[in-house]
Amino acid sequence: MTTAVAPLDVARLREEFPLLGTTAHGRPLVYLDSAATSQKPRSVIRRITRFYERENANIHRGVYALSADATAEYDRVRARVARFLGATPEEIVFTRGTTESINLVAQSWGRGFLRAGDEIVVTAMEHHSNLVPWQLVAEQTGAVLRIAPVTDAGELDLDGFAALLTARTRLVAAVHLSNALGTINPIRRITELAHAAGAVMLVDGAQSAPHLAVDVAALGCDFFACSGHKLFGPTGIGVLYGRRELLERMPPWQGGGDMIASVEYQRSTWAPVPQKFEAGTPHIAGVVGLGAALDFVESIGLDAVAAHEHELLGYATERVAEVPGLRVVGTAPMKAAVLSFVMEGAHPHDVGTILDREGVAVRAGHHCCQPLLRRLGLPATARASFAAYNTRDEVDALVAGLLQVRKVFGG
Ligand code: ALA
Repeated sequence: MTTAVAPLDVARLREEFPLLGTTAHGRPLVYLDSAATSQKPRSVIRRITRFYERENANIHRGVYALSADATAEYDRVRARVARFLGATPEEIVFTRGTTESINLVAQSWGRGFLRAGDEIVVTAMEHHSNLVPWQLVAEQTGAVLRIAPVTDAGELDLDGFAALLTARTRLVAAVHLSNALGTINPIRRITELAHAAGAVMLVDGAQSAPHLAVDVAALGCDFFACSGHKLFGPTGIGVLYGRRELLERMPPWQGGGDMIASVEYQRSTWAPVPQKFEAGTPHIAGVVGLGAALDFVESIGLDAVAAHEHELLGYATERVAEVPGLRVVGTAPMKAAVLSFVMEGAHPHDVGTILDREGVAVRAGHHCCQPLLRRLGLPATARASFAAYNTRDEVDALVAGLLQVRKVFGG
């Protein structure tokens, strides 16, 4: 994590983000909710505007130049995403986001290949988007869901996980970087264990793709899901990486235009991958914006981003220890970008509301991880999450806000 890379010029970087120069309740906005969605740089905003002003046409449909150019750009971005993740373009499916990517695998691979009694293993720290789709497909197929335990510190209990793997395990689905705790899971090791058991491995990369350099070939996983909007890109666009041989064997999950080879009234045949999984007009502007977002990320470098955030998380962890009655939730040694906490005598929603009045935006709640929070004995936490554009001054503003909370609630 802390390799020697040139430090980010954060002041300059911030200038690229118009929203970071705004105010909240008359104070400079301190945006500490990038795990929910990142802010967008000018280059992405401009790219989307230019597309709609000068390049807009449907893809794969027109013989005219505008449509051919839009198609070429869409395909170019697919190749760009493939390079970003260490895959080939045929292995990249565009979706609405991580949630849809996981639902695609659950409904296509899951309904296609799971049988009654087969087992799906997920971890106890999954986001609802990597849990509920498996509950649905388990109900549809008679498969059984097994939950790998986590420790009180919010680490995966690797022995407990390994003990769940049997000849019946068909799929393992695990989060790479926990949105609620910041824990980084040892995905390579988890994948090795899953494969040794003969299971297919899916990684929820919604939070890792924006913070760690990801190479699906090095991770060894079969599926990897991520979202554009957490990666400085637009909302409504996401990616599913799937190993080609698996994608080819999987049935389509949605029918419509562009996913077919030929259609008769009673039956159809399918387009090759990845088009087989992209029915209907896709989010073309979203894909174009995602391409600009990846250009932006690569121009700053994910290693530099990871080093900056690692330093910031360390500083924040030290500073919040000054706040009486505050407890950090999620203390795994390997963690990134997320600081979840509770404060004695103050509900996380009240913490969030008071911080908001100070101009500090954090998320409060169960972070779409209700079972994890219950496992940790908590109804909710407050969560500050960091991105490349955050600063130590913003951590200081967070701590000043938390001291205000302390004043209001005593202690
Ligand atoms: N999953 C996103 C978050 O953690 C929305 O806030």
